[in-house]
Amino acid sequence: MSRIMIVKQKLHEDTRPTLYRGLKYWGKKPHNVWRRLIEDNTQPKDVVYDPFAGSALTFFESLKAGRVPVIADINPLTLFLVDVYSKSFDLQKIKVLADKITTKIRQTGFYKKNYTCECPHCHKLVEIYNYRWHNGTPDEFSYKCPHCQKTYTIRNTIPYTQSSDSKKWKPSFDLRELSIVTPALINKIGGSNITDLWTDRNLALLCAIFDHIRKIKDEEKDALMFGFMQILHLTTKMCALRGNGANRPLSTSWGRPAFLGLSSFMEQNPVIQFERAIYGNAGVIQCLESRYKYLPPYTYSTDIKDLHKVDGIVLLRDCKAIKTGFHANLVITDPPYGSIIQYGELSLVWNVWLNQYDPKYTMSLKQEIIVNRKKSHEQYVNDMVKVWNNCQNLLEQDANVIVTYNSNSKEDWQALQQILRRTDLYVKEQRIQKNKRSSEANVSCKKGIGITDYYFVLGTKNVDYKGF
Ligand SMILES: C[S@@+](CC[C@H](N)C(=O)[O-])C[C@H]1O[C@@H](n2cnc3c(N)ncnc32)[C@H](O)[C@@H]1O
Ligand SMILES: [Zn+2]
Repeated sequence: MSRIMIVKQKLHEDTRPTLYRGLKYWGKKPHNVWRRLIEDNTQPKDVVYDPFAGSALTFFESLKAGRVPVIADINPLTLFLVDVYSKSFDLQKIKVLADKITTKIRQTGFYKKNYTCECPHCHKLVEIYNYRWHNGTPDEFSYKCPHCQKTYTIRNTIPYTQSSDSKKWKPSFDLRELSIVTPALINKIGGSNITDLWTDRNLALLCAIFDHIRKIKDEEKDALMFGFMQILHLTTKMCALRGNGANRPLSTSWGRPAFLGLSSFMEQNPVIQFERAIYGNAGVIQCLESRYKYLPPYTYSTDIKDLHKVDGIVLLRDCKAIKTGFHANLVITDPPYGSIIQYGELSLVWNVWLNQYDPKYTMSLKQEIIVNRKKSHEQYVNDMVKVWNNCQNLLEQDANVIVTYNSNSKEDWQALQQILRRTDLYVKEQRIQKNKRSSEANVSCKKGIGITDYYFVLGTKNVDYKGF
């Protein structure tokens, strides 16, 4: 008898544990639904394989369910997250090290010139939280005055001081190599280097924080890097201003999955953001506390040969090339949906830094399975057929593939049909799962279609094909 019995009743998404909020990634799936699917389709100690692991949900939920995860992704963010959560850090030490960094930077003349001013109300020195840029000028800024105990937004321009420190390492990547970058974007952000996504002063402060983190000798260094990763996108020029109704003058974020060239944006203070990333809501401390509570301690390896020696495997590899080396009892995955989100290109905001932090975190955009200006639907179909064939070879007989999918584009759905036709897989069950948060399809579509994902359970035709 087939082991699969997908749960028929509607599953509701629970509140996401904080550990899943540590890194920004698009298309995070509902953790409790994922675990339920894993539990219902496998036995304890079974191997669960996810070839497109993203933010490593399958890894963590399989561990929680007492299964053995094998996950793959070409994006090093996946490996980084699994690595950070595998360590038992001294939380107190993280705080001490973070405070040392912020104190040192606050003492620099560069920081004082750029991110402090005199409060016009009490005439004391205060720290600026952010600048609001309109048409190329930072003509407004906000701060919280600890003396007046109020938040103020001031309409004024503070002289912009350039950094004179050119010794520190800076990332570099030519954005024109990317499929999502247009000449209009380059024009808008004022250059074609990835560094042009940040203002000069924010880039200088980020480089300073990064430099301090890299010099740390303690293991807690990785936890600080985790915090640093959390602030990279929040300190770019891609953070849109909230409407006046939002009444949140001190924060914003990078909303849409695209590189944005905005005339008006919020430039957020990297030092304050870093502090929030350590101490704040869903910051490093809260994420680690959530992780220690939610998951057992685990060991992992990046070598499949260690499968029987560790609790889970993470492969920073192209899943087209993963054909042998283990047997899986279930494949559960959320593959790229055609052209919807350009994961690899967008992730450069983090990965250009992560790769410098440790060269083992490298990514080859060439291997990404995706549809974009450089990669056709035809190639996407060919690549996916390879992956599904690999999965079928890796699967124990009678085991299933559970795959999510959604798109607003007809071509993407046609691609899925072609993939199914060209493999030995057939659709056994399908259902719609409502997401609490937006799915990829929704995120990329302003009209708000697609707050759902389709879940397909695929069986293998040569085992018990009854037609579809
Ligand atoms: C839809 S996302 C997965 C999102 C995931 N559900 C999550 O919770 O974060 C698809 C993933 O496939 C990865 N990917 C694309 N091509 C790949 C390849 N050739 N090998 C392995 N992973 C690949 C991307 O890096 C991306 O993380
Ligand atoms: Zn004041």
